[in-house]
Amino acid sequence: MNLFVILVILAAISTDVAFSQRRSPKPRGKEMCRSGDGSSYRGFVSKSTLGNTCLNWNKFKIPSGASKGLGNHNYCRNPDQSVMPWCRVRKGKKIVRQLCNIPSCSTPTVKPPQAVDTELTCGEVSERRMHKIVGGSFTPIESHPWVVALFHQGNRFLCGGSLITPCWVLTAAHCFSDGKETNIQRLSVYLGKMAINETDAEKEQGFTVEKLIIHQKYNESNFNNDIALLKIKSSNGGCAVRSASARTVCLPPSHTQLPAGFQCKIAGFGRERYTAWHYSQYLKQAEVKLLSKTDCTSESYYGGLITENMFCAGSPDWSTDACKGDSGGPLVCEVSGRMFLFGVVSWGEGCASPNKPGVYTQVNNYNKWIAAKTGLSKYTTGVMFPTK
Ligand SMILES: *[C@@H]1O[C@H](CO)[C@@H](O)[C@H](O)[C@H]1NC(C)=O
Ligand SMILES: *[C@@H]1O[C@H](CO)[C@@H](O)[C@H](O)[C@H]1NC(C)=O
Repeated sequence: MNLFVILVILAAISTDVAFSQRRSPKPRGKEMCRSGDGSSYRGFVSKSTLGNTCLNWNKFKIPSGASKGLGNHNYCRNPDQSVMPWCRVRKGKKIVRQLCNIPSCSTPTVKPPQAVDTELTCGEVSERRMHKIVGGSFTPIESHPWVVALFHQGNRFLCGGSLITPCWVLTAAHCFSDGKETNIQRLSVYLGKMAINETDAEKEQGFTVEKLIIHQKYNESNFNNDIALLKIKSSNGGCAVRSASARTVCLPPSHTQLPAGFQCKIAGFGRERYTAWHYSQYLKQAEVKLLSKTDCTSESYYGGLITENMFCAGSPDWSTDACKGDSGGPLVCEVSGRMFLFGVVSWGEGCASPNKPGVYTQVNNYNKWIAAKTGLSKYTTGVMFPTK
């Protein structure tokens, strides 16, 4: 054998030795981040969460049954099914175990795009209703997620309303005693509120009012055309984000009528004009039945006070329930599993007086008006209403 060949062989061996020496402390696993308890972490973090430098594993007895990953290095590891990778550090004269903060492998949680209701997803009530309905008529906001609470000057409850598109709320014109002069900067609108005077940051969405449109033919002496629109805007410039406690309600098609006796629901915080001080701060609902025009315009009821833009509904026994709605709040009727906004709580004579049912603005007389004012005609065609 010639010397050259021998030298090449020797060189190869020594290179290999050098490589294997260099390689030995290098982690063999692949994970450079932590998934689960981090037992397969093989990265190079060598400081504990408290900022202490880890000591070389070789200085200690390897725990029996240790998984791989220990060796002549001081990287954090989890060889013993601890909660996360750790290492030993020197604390004064003592040697202690400390956990290490290893970045998690899961990609940083990307927020899903915020969901928004469309004209095709209106009127859905979350299945996850709350189990307990306190005191009979108290109701979770999830059962009436389109109910909005309208405030004046930050804390004075003014009226209820209904979310009809992510950016628009329908309410009553009579809520704004200053009419067109109303200072909209003093108004605020909340979705997802369970109680007037309580805040649940997780459910609530707050808005300012960008535009107030009171029906141009609203007549404050007989409450004809008692309807108004509010364009809402959140602090980040957006509108309502869909959640179990914030949804839009469907608008029924123009001039559709449900039969007298049909059962519908009203909801609100109970601050109706006639209920003085004994209102609840909490959202309540009540079942009401639609009354025929003939009945409601009869002399024993309201006679000529009812215009073609109003209808009546009451609880059959004239119980106080029918007064629990707020002015501006919704009267909704369920058709084919969806809730349609048929009425806006408008007026009534007294509360719980026999033959004096609640009077509601007939919303679907205004589909064209709503389409014109909002520019969102697809919401007013009643597309989700079943055709027979
Ligand atoms: C809300 O109002 C009710 C009734 O007035 C009261 O009992 C309750 O303490 C109030 N809650 C808050 C948070 O102010
Ligand atoms: C408002 O209603 C009252 C009472 O019905 C009526 O006399 C009056 O003419 C109405 N005003 C307008 C502008 O329609």
